[in-house]
Formats: sequence, C-alpha cells, structure tokens
Amino acid sequence: MPLIGRSPAMQELYRLLARLVETDLTVLVSGPSGTGKELVARTLHDCGKRRHGPFVSTDMAAIPRELAESELFGHEKGAFTGATSRSVGKFEQAEGGTLFLDEIGDMPMEVQTRFLRMLQQGEFTAVKGCRPIGADARIVVATNRNLRQLARQGLFREDLFYRLNIVPARLPPLRDRIEDIPDLVRHFLDMAADDGLPRKTISAEALWLLKSYSWPGNVRELENLVRRLTVLCAEGSIDAEAVRAEFDETRVGASRESDAPTNSFREAVERHLSRYFAAHEDGLPPNGLYDRVIKEIERPLIAMCLNATRGNQVRTAKLLGLNRNTLRKKICELQIPVVRGPR
Ligand SMILES: Nc1ncnc2c1ncn2[C@@H]1O[C@H](COP(=O)(O)OP(=O)(O)O)[C@@H](O)[C@H]1O
Ligand SMILES: [Mg+2]
Repeated sequence: MPLIGRSPAMQELYRLLARLVETDLTVLVSGPSGTGKELVARTLHDCGKRRHGPFVSTDMAAIPRELAESELFGHEKGAFTGATSRSVGKFEQAEGGTLFLDEIGDMPMEVQTRFLRMLQQGEFTAVKGCRPIGADARIVVATNRNLRQLARQGLFREDLFYRLNIVPARLPPLRDRIEDIPDLVRHFLDMAADDGLPRKTISAEALWLLKSYSWPGNVRELENLVRRLTVLCAEGSIDAEAVRAEFDETRVGASRESDAPTNSFREAVERHLSRYFAAHEDGLPPNGLYDRVIKEIERPLIAMCLNATRGNQVRTAKLLGLNRNTLRKKICELQIPVVRGPR
C-alpha cells in the first residue's frame, strides 16, 4: 500500500481497506485537510479490481453550484442555455473505474437528491436526458466537515448521510499519530531523492522537534516542509537548527496573515464570487445571479436559526427579524426541513 504509518489508527485503517478493496461498496473518508483522504481513495482504486479502469476525481467545493448537476451526471444537447452539445458527466467518465467526490458536504441539495437516487437504483439520467445510464463506478467520497452535524442542521440530506456512513473511514490529524512522523519523513526524503533532489538524512534531534509540532496542515504540511528542507539544507543531514529556522519562518508568516482582516464574511463572499466568476469561460455566469446568490445565504441562515430555536418558527422569525408569514414562505420555497423539539 502506498500509505505510510504504523500507528494503531493507521493499522486499523489498513485492515478496513483490505476488506474493502475487492468490493464496490461506497466509502466515506473523513478527516481534516491534508490527512490523506485522496490517497486513501487512490489506494482503494489502485489495489482493487477496478485498477485497470479510470480514476476520476472531482472537488464539489470547486464546481459552481448550478453546474454541479451537469458536471456529475452529464447533460443532453439543449438542456439549458449554452448546452450546445451532449456532455458526459463524471459518473460516466469513471465507468469501470472509481469516482472520487471530494468535499461532499458542498454538494448542492438538488444534486444530493439525484445522487442518493442513483446510489439506490444503480442508474441515473443525464440532465434533460431520458435514457437511463447504468452506474458502473466505484464511489469514494470525502469530507473534512462533520456531515452528521450538517445533516442535523438541515444543510445535508440526512438519508444520504446514513447511506454514505455505512462504510466510514476516519483519518486522524497527524498530531494524534506522531509516531508515524519518522516513517513519513523518511518516505518524503526518498521521494525527493527519486525526483532528483539531493539525498538527505535527518538527525534524531530534528525528528524530535518535528514530533513536538502541532501540524495544523497535517501530512501535506509535513511533506512540504521536508521538501523545502531538502532543497534549503546545504549539508547531507537535516539538523534541528534547520527545522527550527523553518518553523520560525512559518510562524512569522502565520501571524502576519492573521493580523490582516481576511476572515470577514464580506471577504469570504468576495473570494467565493471571484472564483465563481473565474470558473466561467468569459467570466459571466448565467443570468439571474442575484436571486441565486441571495438564496445561497438565505438557506443556511434560516436553517441554522431554526436549528438554534429547535424548530420554533415564532422564535426564528423574531431572531431573523422577519414576519412569520414571510418566514413560512421562505422555508417552503427553499425546502428547508423543520425538525421540532429538543435533540
Ligand atoms: N499516510 C500517508 N503516507 C504517505 N503520504 C501521505 C499519507 N497521507 C497523506 N500523504 C500525502 O500528503 C499529501 C496530502 O494528502 P491528500 O490525500 O491530498 O490529503 P486530503 O485529501 O486529506 O487533503 C499528499 O501528497 C499525500 O500523498
Ligand atoms: Mg484533498
């Protein structure tokens, strides 16, 4: 297996993967960013019976919401303005192989409905298509969010969550398996050497220092650091001094970043919108943008207020400063599930 690490958590993961490789079961891989979720999906593909088929990977967070359905299921010619020809979706592209759906928590509700139906029926239709297409791709989904909680808040379909959660694989953060760090470092040093960088070793003290760090970026951060050290270190062995210097650098960088007010809601929206505009060829999304964007904000806002008031619509209306009838209309329009009573 291409996965490195012998910590109890990793060994448990290997046992699970060994049982899963020869099956077509849908697997839900969860864990913080950089813990190896995509690598697990690849491993399931590369070691399984579908290894000669394609491995197709797609990130739900990177697809503009209204394109998501057609991206995954494909569309017929003329399905919407601009659909000048038939397009094959990811599920069909992955036929005979594996489809990896990253950031499944960002899958729009309508798409979740279609996805669940496909999982249950084993077939799907393209957008505006009438011919059913047999689903023949092994599906691995990943998330770094708490799907159960999203489902409770009405932001993810509960039935889909239960369907996906039949086979969960959890990846712990790197700081919870620091005993894996020496093996990982050696592995990344070997990889750097394979890429033509000078072959380096690492001192025991440097390793100890690496094990005492908290690794918010997990294995990805470790991999990048090892690579940087390989390039920067003049000597054949990476010592603690070099590691310390790098840590100081990142810490200075991190505090500089957190000084800047980059975390405001407005800036998050601006960032999201500029990515969204950039995802369209001429920088112009389809018309009707205002309503679509407002709905994106309304839905989680109302769902969270309902959740906070345990489904009490009178209190939710007050909390939002909305008229009760307006709230009722919006709940209906946005198809927000209302769950009453304590949880
Ligand atoms: N257990 C592991 N052994 C070897 N490399 C790993 C391991 N976990 C993660 N990596 C490497 O770390 C990087 C981030 O992994 P990735 O699968 O993209 O994480 P995630 O999808 O959880 O964000 C990749 O380059 C991957 O190859
Ligand atoms: Mg990833």
